[in-house]
Parts: sequence; structure tokens; C-alpha cells
Amino acid sequence: MAGDNQKQAAARRALDYVEDGMKLGIGTGSTAEEFVKLLAERVAGGLKIVGVPTSERTAVLATKLNVPLSTLDETPHLDLTIDGADELDAKLCLIKGGGGALLREKIVATASDRMIVIADASKVVTTLGAFALPIEVIPFGAVSTIRRAVDVAKACGCTGEIKRRGDSYGEPFFTDSGNYIFDCAFGKIPDPVSLARELNLIAGVVETGLFINIATFALVGTASGVDIIKPV
Ligand code: 5RP
Repeated sequence: MAGDNQKQAAARRALDYVEDGMKLGIGTGSTAEEFVKLLAERVAGGLKIVGVPTSERTAVLATKLNVPLSTLDETPHLDLTIDGADELDAKLCLIKGGGGALLREKIVATASDRMIVIADASKVVTTLGAFALPIEVIPFGAVSTIRRAVDVAKACGCTGEIKRRGDSYGEPFFTDSGNYIFDCAFGKIPDPVSLARELNLIAGVVETGLFINIATFALVGTASGVDIIKPV
């Protein structure tokens, strides 16, 4: 199967874990969008669920397709979150945030009993870091915050260019929560657990795209089917 078909196959398999009456976290990105479209077909067929979207973009699509939505304030505890990833390793540490939704994605995933990652085979890596790690930062003092992030990253064995994300007009990209994202091209992250912990201690860092011990398992579309990856 080619990449897009792999995403769709993983999204379709994720539906096997969705049960009537569930409260679902719904992720962001092209793979999550495949899931929303398939979920909408089930809802049209009578499945009763309520979804909490991880971004405005997902909320727009789900609303258009008549998937019932709630907020995390109205529905603070979720049964299951289904979301994509930019990279995943054998321990099921993830890099997320390529779509800029990492903060809401992490809040929603950690409000859920389980998180299932859906991805195509290109997302599976031996060592995280080929995909630039997104860090969400409060705009106030962002340059100073990111200087501290550089120091912390170096101490954790990571170096590389760190750039503020721009939009397609060359303006700073703002997240749904009004923050900046810095993309850290480290190449390799030898110790994602320490890096996530240390970055989260910096004042001004809201969250990082490192998801550690959050995913329950991953459904990965491959050339021949869908693999289940459980953390080793
Ligand atoms: C958005 C994300 C996405 O899950 C991640 O970027 C994967 O996207 P795609 O399914 O389009 O490859 O973290 O913030």
C-alpha cells in the first residue's frame, strides 16, 4: 500500500476499538482526518459517540460531517483518543505537533484512558529526531525562552537549528492557544525522556511534541496490512 492508503488502513483499523457510547478524543492531521471521515460514516449508520477535537481544524471537519462534538470542560474524562504522529519509536515515544496542535493533543490524550496512534510506515523510526521537534512557547520572552531550550537540549545531547515556525505568508504561526511553535532540527534525540522533562521545566515552554508513556499502542499501515506496535 502507498502512504495515503496506509494512513487510511490504520484509521479504518482504529474503528475496531470504538464502541457505542464512547467519549472519544479526536486527533489532528491527515491521518486523523481519514479517521474522522470513517467515523462519520459509522455515526451516520447509528453509532453513538461524542468526540472532543484536538484542534479547530478537526472541529470544523467533524462538524461538517455531523460527528457529535463536546469540549473537554463538558466531557473531562475520555475513553479513548485516536491521533496521528510524526514519529514513533519502539518504546512508543512519539514526536507530534507537525500540524501545530501538540498542546491540545497532549491534554486530550492524557484525559483519556487509552491513546491509539494511527500512522503510515514512514513514521516508525529507531531513534526520534529526524522530524524537527516542535516546542510550544508563550510569545512573551520567546527568544529568551528558546535560548534556555538550546542550553537544555545541548545538555541532553541534542544540537541543531531551532527555528520559529512561520505560516504560508511568512508571519509567525500561532497555535489554537495563541502561542508560538519552534521547530528543533536535532536529527537525533538520544534521550527523549530527559529532554522532555528538562524542556518542560523552562518557564515559557508550554509543552513539547515529545509524548512519553502516553500512547497505549500504535496501528501502523504498511505495504501489506496494518501492524500493531506495543511499547517494548
Ligand atoms: C498534529 C500532529 C499530527 O498527528 C502529526 O503531524 C501527523 O500528521 P499526519 O497524519 O498528517 O502525518 O501531531 O499536530
